[in-house]
Amino acid sequence: MSHPDSIAPHGGQLINRIANPAQQEEFLSKADHLPRVQLDERAASDLAMIAIGGFSPLTGFLEKADYDRVVNEMHLVNGLPWSIPITLPVTEAVAKPLKEGSLVRLDDGRGRFIGVLELTQKYRYDKVHEALYVYRTNEEKHPGVSVVYKQGAINLAGSVWMLQRDVHPQFPTYQIDPIESRTLFREKGWKTIVAFQTRNPIHRAHEYIQKCALETVDGLFLHPLVGVTKDDDISADIRMRCYEIMLEHYFPKDRVILAINPAAMRYAGPREAIFHALIRKNYGCTHFIVGRDHAGVGDYYGTYDAQHIFDEFDPDALGIKPMKFEHAFYCKRTESMATTKTSPSLPEERVHLSGTKVREMLRRGELPPPEFSRPEVAAELAKAMKIPAPVWGDGI
Ligand code: ADX
Repeated sequence: MSHPDSIAPHGGQLINRIANPAQQEEFLSKADHLPRVQLDERAASDLAMIAIGGFSPLTGFLEKADYDRVVNEMHLVNGLPWSIPITLPVTEAVAKPLKEGSLVRLDDGRGRFIGVLELTQKYRYDKVHEALYVYRTNEEKHPGVSVVYKQGAINLAGSVWMLQRDVHPQFPTYQIDPIESRTLFREKGWKTIVAFQTRNPIHRAHEYIQKCALETVDGLFLHPLVGVTKDDDISADIRMRCYEIMLEHYFPKDRVILAINPAAMRYAGPREAIFHALIRKNYGCTHFIVGRDHAGVGDYYGTYDAQHIFDEFDPDALGIKPMKFEHAFYCKRTESMATTKTSPSLPEERVHLSGTKVREMLRRGELPPPEFSRPEVAAELAKAMKIPAPVWGDGI
């Protein structure tokens, strides 16, 4: 089926589950009489992602049949690829009084009414099975698995409505929802758009693979994740400031759009790479960057597992194309960023970069050197982490 944009949303149609004024009025009039479920930060961001179409074709939290297919086979019952179960787990005590077929009021952590769930099912699920299939481990110290183990034993399922789309309190100008990014791409005349996912302050390997990708497409959609991350990740406001600095100094303004991805991080490595790609497809991107250990944590996944998993899918069913990059490093021999595909350097001539390394250095009170970070970014990180600013050219 033809679509006016370069790429159709996943499933063909951009889902919109933001209540219209009439629905809003109806929900508000019922609000005080509905049973309530309080959403944690992740569930609240899932609600928003469903409502704005970022998780198209999902219209709500997965029912049992879809849940089973997604966990076991990485597809929805309708045959579309989908790799991460989007669920609303609650405790037995919370689930018990809720009636299938009724409306449930969804509140955020502060008790604010933010949406409704048309409850169709309540079901038990096997946490260890979910952990082993989705995260490839049952170890509780995996941050994604730990969330599964701590959450309630019953999944609530059904379509949702979000009461209204709030302006993002921290990043209002960067809140660009799928309908808006699609419009922007059309206005700019971009036919091919590559998306970049990140949860780390930008380092030079990121910049290198972004620019390599941009050389072959019309535009770059920088889409840092600002939903829940694990505690030791650098906060989103610091990361966003680093991006603003990069755009000001190192990128052509007319080729890049910076926008926030409001989703929560799962750290599911390969499965999350597919999920990340499908989200960006919904935002209208035709290509998606997958580098080393995408969405990985610790050493749970092989360096390129998140690239290999794309081979398990029908490329047409995915639609969005992965752009795969090898582990990039600063090459002392060629004095540039490179990979083993482009540089003949010996291992000792390579400075390897990663978000983890940058975070570790910052935590030790050290600043990433110029091979790691652009000086303006390092200075911003220094300021944010209260580390004395570096003196460039002084042996760093
Ligand atoms: S992620 O959890 O969001 O994937 P991160 O922000 O570190 O983490 O990575 C963003 C993207 O850059 C991912 O596709 C990742 O694979 C890629 N990447 C990060 N560091 C490198 C590197 N040194 N070489 C190649 N790709 C990298």
